[in-house]
Amino acid sequence: GPLRVLVFGASLRTDSVNARLASLVARLVSDSGAGVDLALMRDFDMPMYDGDREAAEGLPPGALALHDRLDRSDAFVIASPEYNASVPGVLKNAIDWVSRIRPQPFKTKHALLVSASPSLVGGNRGLWALRVPLEHLGTRVYPDMFSLADGYQAFAEDGRLADPGLHERLAETVSGFLGLVEADVRYVCLERRWYEF
Ligand code: FNR
Repeated sequence: GPLRVLVFGASLRTDSVNARLASLVARLVSDSGAGVDLALMRDFDMPMYDGDREAAEGLPPGALALHDRLDRSDAFVIASPEYNASVPGVLKNAIDWVSRIRPQPFKTKHALLVSASPSLVGGNRGLWALRVPLEHLGTRVYPDMFSLADGYQAFAEDGRLADPGLHERLAETVSGFLGLVEADVRYVCLERRWYEF
């Protein structure tokens, strides 16, 4: 069947510019023929990680729900804000909770990282920081990343990026990522079938 891609907007804010970027990426993924699951951080309420709580109650429902959505996808895209040149605590917390589940769901999954910010940096330093926990967990983080600067002004009415060159650059990043994931998933299928013979 077609690829299934989870696109995750990592801000809790209702008017999040990263949610807008996630929606646009979801549309690009869907236009390419892949299946899309768009998720937002506020769908996955969870407390701060606490080992005592985990021992007493196990994983909170929000973490289990996020795990479930990850588990059902071949790859994921995270659209995350940059806070103080790093990963927002709420996203790191979600990764920490979900990483406790076995089999550990980040392992061997492909991920594309994108960010948006009102600043001219576009949140790119946050994405470099986000690579650290994900790569530690075995996620294959796509080498190319996309950071949208001046994000509050960057979107056109129809949800595309107002700058056609920038829009094209995002579309190329997404299609390059999907091409890699598709090749890898096909290879795994082929390998399995080979094994059956
Ligand atoms: C920010 N913001 C920010 N922006 C940036 O480009 N680099 C940064 O280091 C930071 N640091 C930072 C720290 C904290 C605590 C806050 C609350 C904000 C601004 C941030 O990019 C802006 O609030 C975005 O709108 C956040 O993304 P969402 O929520 O719109 O998706």
